Amino acid sequence: IWQSVPLAPPDSIFKLTAAYKADTSKDKVNLGVGAYRDDNDKPWILPVVKKATQILLNDETLDHEYLPITGLSDFTNGAAKLILGSESPAIKEGRTVSVQTISGTGANHLGALFLSRFYNWNGPRKVYLSNPTWANHHAIFRNVGIEPVDYAYYDPKTIGLDFSGFIQILKNAPDRSIFLLHACAHNPTGVDPTPEQWRTIAEVIKAKGHYSFFDCAYQGFASGDLDRDAWAVRYFVEQGIPLLVCQSFAKNAGLYGERVGALHLVSVDQDTASRVKSQMSVLQRSEISNPPAHGARLVSLILNDPELFEEWKGDIKTMAERIKAMRRELRRLLTEELHTPGNWDHIVNQIGMFSFTGLNGEQCKELTETGHIYLTGNGRISMAGLNTGNIRYVAEQIDRVVHQ
Ligand code: LMR
Repeated sequence: IWQSVPLAPPDSIFKLTAAYKADTSKDKVNLGVGAYRDDNDKPWILPVVKKATQILLNDETLDHEYLPITGLSDFTNGAAKLILGSESPAIKEGRTVSVQTISGTGANHLGALFLSRFYNWNGPRKVYLSNPTWANHHAIFRNVGIEPVDYAYYDPKTIGLDFSGFIQILKNAPDRSIFLLHACAHNPTGVDPTPEQWRTIAEVIKAKGHYSFFDCAYQGFASGDLDRDAWAVRYFVEQGIPLLVCQSFAKNAGLYGERVGALHLVSVDQDTASRVKSQMSVLQRSEISNPPAHGARLVSLILNDPELFEEWKGDIKTMAERIKAMRRELRRLLTEELHTPGNWDHIVNQIGMFSFTGLNGEQCKELTETGHIYLTGNGRISMAGLNTGNIRYVAEQIDRVVHQ
C-alpha cells in the first residue's frame, strides 16, 4: 500500500525558508515568505500584541473550553467592522455572515467549499484567478473541485496592471462567473488597480452578474491605513455586488502562527444570511469543529478596545513605513548609485509586502545559488526581508545578475 503515491514537490514559498535556514553563508538574505521583519531582521512582536497578551494572562475568567463553531463573536463582529466599515449598512441590516477561520487560508478554503456546495453553477465549476496570484489559491480551489482559470492582470512590459486585458476577460467570461480579487496589496505583484479602475471593474462585474471573491491578507500594508485599504471591498458592497471576503490577521497583527482569520459573506437579507451561516457552521464542524481561541481573543481585545485599536494602527504604520523606506532605498541604490540597466521605478510604485522585480527565472536562480538571496522564481521579493544592514548587498547582487 502507498507505493504508487507520487512524490510531491515542496511548497514553492516555504521551501525557501527551509533553504535559507540551512544556508551557512553570513551574507544570506530571506526575501521569500511574506513575513514582516524589523530592521534587525527579526520577527516583530507588535507592542500592542504584547499588551493584549498580558491582559489575557491576567484574566482569570478565561478557560480552555471550546469556542462556538463559528468562532468568538466579539472577534468576528469586530473583524467584520474592520473590513466592511464600522458604519456599514450591510452589518446594520444584519445581512452579513462572519465565521472565524484558520487565518486567510482557512477563509479561502471555507469560502471555496461553500461555493462548491451552494453556488448556483450554470456550467463547469470555475474560478477566475489573476495571472499571477498567490500560488496556494490554485490548490485551495482544486481541493474542492473548482477549476482555476487565469485572468489577465500583470503586464510584464509595463511591470504594471494589464487593465484592458482584465476588463476584456471580465466582459468575455460567462455571466455569473466567480472572480477572485485581491482587496489590496496584490500578492505577488504589488500592483493594485486605482480607485478609478476599481470603479470600472465593479461596473463590469455588476453588469455581468459576476461573484466577487475578495482575498484580503494585507489590510493596512498597502497604504498604512486600515480604512483606505478596505476601500475596494466597501465600494463593491455599496454597489450591491454579491461578494465574500477572506480576512487574515497574520500580517497586520504579526500573528502568523496563531492562525487568526475570518470569512465574511454579504448577502441580500437577514434571512438569507442566517441560512448561509447555518450551512457554513455545518461545513466548519466537519473540518475543524471549532476554531482556535487564543489568537482570536488577542485580536478581539485589539479591535474592541479603542486605546489598543489606536495603538495597533500605529504599529501597522511602523511596518508599512519601514517597507516604504526600503522601497525608496532599493530604487535609489539601483538607479542612482549602481546605474543598473533598466527602469526600477516599479519598486516604489508597487505597494504592500511584495515587489515584483521583473527579474527572470535565471536571474532569480543566480541570486539564490551564488548570492544566497532567497526569492520566489517569479521574481517576487518580500520587501520586509530588506533592512539597512543588507539592502546594499541585495542591490549589488541584483546589479550583478542583471549585467550577466
Ligand atoms: C506569502 O505569499 O509569502 C505569504 O502569504 C505566506 C504564505 O502562506 O504563502
